[in-house]
Amino acid sequence: MLVCHCNVISQSEMEDLIRGLLDEDPWQLIVPAKVFRAAEARGKCCGCIPNISATISKVVEAYHRDLDSAERDVAALMQRLAAFGTRQEVKQYARRTRSNRKAQRGPVS
Ligand code: FES
Repeated sequence: MLVCHCNVISQSEMEDLIRGLLDEDPWQLIVPAKVFRAAEARGKCCGCIPNISATISKVVEAYHRDLDSAERDVAALMQRLAAFGTRQEVKQYARRTRSNRKAQRGPVS
């Protein structure tokens, strides 16, 4: 199944990329842009970002479960990931609201 249609990246490729990043540093904060960089790709329409964020959370949690990492440290990392996701959603909402306001004003005369 494709996660990113613009860059033709499948779910399993995405998971491998995330695991590769975790192999380099298991405690780094992995964000979608980092995964795109690892894939040597760029976000184009960025419609896949919520799915990539969900995949990152799932893979990070499973990776640390396999490593038997301390539960408290994993919870802190997952909170940082969730906080990043929330900030991204707020930014997207603000962007959408701004563009809606512009559209409601109508054409410039
Ligand atoms: S679907 Fe991933 S950038 Fe468009």
